[in-house]
Amino acid sequence: MSHTSHPARPVAAAAGGPLSGHVQVPGDKSISHRSLIVGCLSIGETRVENLLEGEDVLRTADAVRALGGTVTREGEGRWRVIGVGIGGLGQPETVLDFGNAGTGSRLMMGVVGSHPVTATFDGDASLRKRPMRRILDPLVRMGTTVVEEAEGGRVPLTLRGPRETIPIVYETPAPSAQIKSAVLFAGLNSPGETTVVEREATRDHTERMLAHAGADIRVETEGAGRRITLRGQPELRARDIVVPADPSSAAFPLVAALIVPGSRVTIEAVMTNPLRTGLVTTLLEMGAEIALRNRRDLGGEEVADLDVTAGPLRGVEVPPERAPAMIDEYPVLAVAAAFATGETRMRGLAELRVKESDRLAAVAAGLAVTGVPHRIEGDDLVVEGLGGKVPGGGTVATELDHRIAMAFLVMGLASRNPVTIDDGAMIATSFPSFMPTLERLGASFRT
Ligand code: S3P
Repeated sequence: MSHTSHPARPVAAAAGGPLSGHVQVPGDKSISHRSLIVGCLSIGETRVENLLEGEDVLRTADAVRALGGTVTREGEGRWRVIGVGIGGLGQPETVLDFGNAGTGSRLMMGVVGSHPVTATFDGDASLRKRPMRRILDPLVRMGTTVVEEAEGGRVPLTLRGPRETIPIVYETPAPSAQIKSAVLFAGLNSPGETTVVEREATRDHTERMLAHAGADIRVETEGAGRRITLRGQPELRARDIVVPADPSSAAFPLVAALIVPGSRVTIEAVMTNPLRTGLVTTLLEMGAEIALRNRRDLGGEEVADLDVTAGPLRGVEVPPERAPAMIDEYPVLAVAAAFATGETRMRGLAELRVKESDRLAAVAAGLAVTGVPHRIEGDDLVVEGLGGKVPGGGTVATELDHRIAMAFLVMGLASRNPVTIDDGAMIATSFPSFMPTLERLGASFRT
């Protein structure tokens, strides 16, 4: 089981020459999970291109299989799902082990909790610490029984879905696409309209993909938020899906190219969904040279090639309302901020405390080890930029968090002394080709 620990694999990154060339990053993690889930709930065969073959997504594939779907790998990034349809899930015979994956586990709780099956969810030491009450609360209102749960509403936990799911109107207590999506997936198997209201708009991949599969779903804007209404028990049609490149993975070569002097890098066909581009917006405000070229549509999402040129950055204030559009990018933004001139204040980061690690604490600890002045004020992180002269050195504790691992390796590519991370194993959850991708641009790592 994945909650047993693995041998730590330290990795070090050291500064070298400029980074240059063209790279592609893997398919988007959010869309990859949803491709398998929507495929499972559709009738017929869904072909998926460019699926992210990271550990997190492979766990979702296993869960779909355990629930009766057929999932096969046809070639690199090419997968086929034969769905069971809404209402058609089978009783799993094994524990659904989601490893490190918050998204896979939470979205699947919505699916399973709305079907008359009993299933146990578990994961690694990181997932076992993460709050699941935010998913269980709306599900209980929809008729799901929580048969067992670890203290504080955590995994391992067992859910049993009702014979008939109750449609609800639900306002999410935090800006979270995972909460929204779990309720929408549960609403798919209820007779009537399920409504989710979010005060701040979060990534809308679930809504787009359900509409693409033929669901009756309405999205209305309400101030900075949205009201999403879904009619339950549609027959979803299996539709082919092309997964665009993940902007949250592109963030690492992007910041690396900005901070390693003399670099010029193109990152190809990155998804530019406006609910995911907060980092690019922020870096442009910091004075970064990033050109978005060749904007085009790829399977219902806009993508663009990012031309990135190294240059000086200046500190900025990042408003709290931007957080949902860059929630996974703060660790690497903190690294960019360390190289900038002046102070960067990132406001409203409460949700970072419940990610794969307490990311606010993990970023602060990493900055402390690498000699970057910073402070946490309430839910804000303030980084005092060192104008390119970041000491580095030391070993950063990654806390089973892939994004902490990758962010501090990026720092090591431009700091005065190499940066070591205590464990690179978790990088495989979201960006298994992270090191070879950066090595192709000229970076060097020592394992
Ligand atoms: C995700 C939503 C975000 C994000 C996570 C992926 C998704 O989490 O941090 O990596 O695919 O819906 P929250 O919804 O908890 O903010």
